Amino acid sequence: MHTEVFERWIATVETRHLAERTFQEVSRSLRSLSSAYVERRTTLAEGAALSGAGKRAAFALFYGPLHFLLVRHIAASLPDAGRVTGPLTDLGCGTGASGAAWASVCARAPSVVGIDRHPWAVDESRHTYRMFGLKGRTHVGDASRVALAGRGAVLAAFTLNEMAAGARDGMQSRLLAHAERGGAVLIVEPLAGFVAPWWNRWRQAFESAGGRADEWRVRAELPPIVQKLDRAAGLNHREITGRSLWLAGD
Ligand SMILES: C[S@@+](CC[C@H](N)C(=O)[O-])C[C@H]1O[C@@H](n2cnc3c(N)ncnc32)[C@H](O)[C@@H]1O
Repeated sequence: MHTEVFERWIATVETRHLAERTFQEVSRSLRSLSSAYVERRTTLAEGAALSGAGKRAAFALFYGPLHFLLVRHIAASLPDAGRVTGPLTDLGCGTGASGAAWASVCARAPSVVGIDRHPWAVDESRHTYRMFGLKGRTHVGDASRVALAGRGAVLAAFTLNEMAAGARDGMQSRLLAHAERGGAVLIVEPLAGFVAPWWNRWRQAFESAGGRADEWRVRAELPPIVQKLDRAAGLNHREITGRSLWLAGD
């Protein structure tokens, strides 16, 4: 069973993104988007994933809800993730789905700061935070250069794999330093090894710092539009999978 606010969010995303294009157009774009994530990965660092209205609609209607359901499950399952205090900085926030998911399982919803290099994503995340009743701020910017001050929570969901290797390596020491100051850090990436060949190095670094690594396979009830797109694009998300690195901070 989904919460009312989740269903309302999906309904408005559906209304807005299907107003100007047909379901068939979106499912064609979804095929192209998922092939960018799998076969044309070198184009991701240039922002190719969100480079057309069709792909953006496919991202909002399909990957956004899937990421929401996965991150909500992860945040609800990790001890202490529900106790973080804000701000919750969402690096590469996309449509804001993952940050909203984490914030929505917190005992006291933290304020959320969404940062993305894509202006469209930043607009979408503003809408998402509003739908979930979250206090949110959003900026267009490079997540690899954001100052991580204070002890708030930091999320990078499906973002680090799109960064250039040098920028990602630089992020690691900044994220570990953030956790050492008492802030919480949650990284989420797909299970597929080729997407994040750097995972084992990051895993060792997080574990050495007292953190944990997990793999997730979640059987979630998918919203009807996600099920329909999944079938139409020949994908199979009856199980939503991912892996995470977690440092609880103080
Ligand atoms: C696959 S999407 C994931 C979005 C969101 N975190 C989620 O879980 O649904 C990756 C996002 O990271 C953003 N991104 C990638 N590299 C970035 C960077 N260096 N700075 C800011 N945003 C970045 C992309 O624009 C895109 O919105």
